[in-house]
Amino acid sequence: MLVTGKELLLDAQEKGYAVGAFNINNMEIVQAIIDAAEETNSPVILQASQGGIKYAGIEYIAALGKTAARNAKVPVALHLDHGTDFDQVMLCIRHGFTSVMIDGSRFPLEENIAYTKKVVEVAKAVGVSVEAELGKIGGTEDHITVKAKDATFTDPDEALRFVNETDIDFLAIAVGTAHGVYKGKPELDFARIATIADLLTVPLVLHGSSGVPDEDLKQAISLGISKINIDTDIRIAFANGVKDFLKKDPDNFDPRKILGPARAAMKEIVMEKMHIFGSVNKGWK
Ligand code: G3H
Ligand code: ZN
Repeated sequence: MLVTGKELLLDAQEKGYAVGAFNINNMEIVQAIIDAAEETNSPVILQASQGGIKYAGIEYIAALGKTAARNAKVPVALHLDHGTDFDQVMLCIRHGFTSVMIDGSRFPLEENIAYTKKVVEVAKAVGVSVEAELGKIGGTEDHITVKAKDATFTDPDEALRFVNETDIDFLAIAVGTAHGVYKGKPELDFARIATIADLLTVPLVLHGSSGVPDEDLKQAISLGISKINIDTDIRIAFANGVKDFLKKDPDNFDPRKILGPARAAMKEIVMEKMHIFGSVNKGWK
């Protein structure tokens, strides 16, 4: 069933678990995530980045996401990940996304507020949920790169002002995670998560969550994180699945034989995450 991001995250916030938001780029990834969600009875968010939309095309990615969601036995939201401009957000809303992220984190606070507000006004009018970002999350996610020296943690007082003035539905906070593969062990600022969660009423989002140790993710959830974004871990599972198969059977040229094991590997990793996030058996059945 296709639902909004807000519906999913309010349930997660109330019950103290997190909904996994997994990046989609093609049919096999969508199927892996939905199979994992159905097998574990987990609510789930399918999210497409601007890079994913560019790769697959908006018509294809929207059709894949909506078809999967409408046929799923669990609640599913279709979300735009890191939308950096107004037109991209509008395009996704027009194609039936139920949730969007407007990422104005590159702007100074006032501009981020103004830009985000513009999106909220339109999205709210058509019942689409809005995520925004405050602070700067390091690393690379498709076309967005923030160097480690430019990454800045979210200031709790600014976060309160940001949410009050923009009226967003959930907030991505920068608390020490980064997009992509970690070089060392990520150091999460748990005290900051707790402070922000105490001040704010909206659900909080953790980006850059691939490669973060399970115990750290569990602690972040216990302190108030309700949405956890995973992209890199799925990419790694996909690539390893393809490589392992072709190592064993290098002359095979059947796309279904090559991609099938990759799809199974992605499903396994998504199921593992759902257990860590505590979303298992929270599928509203
Ligand atoms: O927005 C998507 C996620 O923040 C991806 O993070 O690179 O750690 O998987 P990741
Ligand atoms: Zn992200």
